[in-house]
Amino acid sequence: MRAVQVSRLDGPEAVRVVELDEPAGDGAVVVDVYAAGVAFPDALLTRGLYQHKPELPFVPGAEAAGVVRSAPAGAQVSAGDRAAALTMLSGGMAQVIALPPEQVFPLPDTVSFEAGAGLLFNDLTVHFALTQRGRLSDGETVLVHGAAGGIGTSALRLAPALGAARTIAVVSTQDKADIARAAGATDVVLADGFKEAVRDMTAGSGVDIVVDPVGGDRFTDSLRSLAPGGRLLVVGFTGGDIPTVKVNRLLLNNLDAVGVGWGAWAMSHPGYLAHQWSQLQPLLAAGTIAPPQPEVYSLQRAADAIAALENRSARGKVVLRMRD
Ligand SMILES: NC(=O)c1ccc[n+]([C@@H]2O[C@H](COP(=O)([O-])OP(=O)(O)OC[C@H]3O[C@@H](n4cnc5c(N)ncnc54)[C@H](OP(=O)(O)O)[C@@H]3O)[C@@H](O)[C@H]2O)c1
Repeated sequence: MRAVQVSRLDGPEAVRVVELDEPAGDGAVVVDVYAAGVAFPDALLTRGLYQHKPELPFVPGAEAAGVVRSAPAGAQVSAGDRAAALTMLSGGMAQVIALPPEQVFPLPDTVSFEAGAGLLFNDLTVHFALTQRGRLSDGETVLVHGAAGGIGTSALRLAPALGAARTIAVVSTQDKADIARAAGATDVVLADGFKEAVRDMTAGSGVDIVVDPVGGDRFTDSLRSLAPGGRLLVVGFTGGDIPTVKVNRLLLNNLDAVGVGWGAWAMSHPGYLAHQWSQLQPLLAAGTIAPPQPEVYSLQRAADAIAALENRSARGKVVLRMRD
């Protein structure tokens, strides 16, 4: 089979497409992969900058979609089923993958392989962020940073279905504003001056939740953009710097700064992934949550696809087509 491989930690440009042996499938669900998702951690992995540091050489990729080749008894999929799969940390960018049954889910017929390869990692993170950690209630307003990225577009797609009345997208360029609108944003503002724009468009009252995969120097303005009782969800740090918070701001306005570590939660709570999928799958199948509209790269262009996350040029979710 063909697979994407990282053999030295010199960034996305050093990634190669290679021939590897297919994995053995003992006790696992074996999936013939048609598309694989690309996420920000993949770019970090190519430089050894992610908290998870697999031994070299390794195959990157947290998620994929395809057709089940074989599955053990008791799995929620059988041979021939369309499926979406979570490798979680690495291993997804290969034409055949073998995974524990609890990490492979039936993919609704309405969702293409390319969209299916781009939904589990972000949608399950965002579902965990908004429900379990953020306590999103009906009618609330959600501000989304990095709104044209993978987590950002996922938050824009899911928040209304989970009860939000309004989503405000924060992006760096007008080009990315179009991506955020296509993902369903009610309003879009530029990162530069977002605090003032949000104050104006909420008549001074602020937002209930901030979804923040960016961090860096906008953190304090995010806290200032929250209504009393608001929650700032710490999802990631694509901006580079890990912000610090003066906790008097939390006290003064009854705010929560909330950590969102979905992978660690899912791995330490057996059955949680299945619970999440049981909530999201009907919404996806019914079209209440639209599938992602990924930017698709050929397998040969894997290095460019991963680089797009690192150099900030990615538009929406990025996905690799794994077969012609
Ligand atoms: N906590 C969890 O459980 C969990 C799960 C999955 C992912 N994550 C994290 O979530 C973050 C987002 O992942 P993603 O896949 O959505 O990434 P992505 O598609 O690249 O989107 C990230 C967004 O960050 C913004 N950004 C601001 N400064 C940037 C910079 N210097 N370089 C690159 N992007 C920058 C960009 O938007 P603008 O250009 O519009 O500013 C970009 O669209 C990552 O840190 C990832 O590790 C966390």
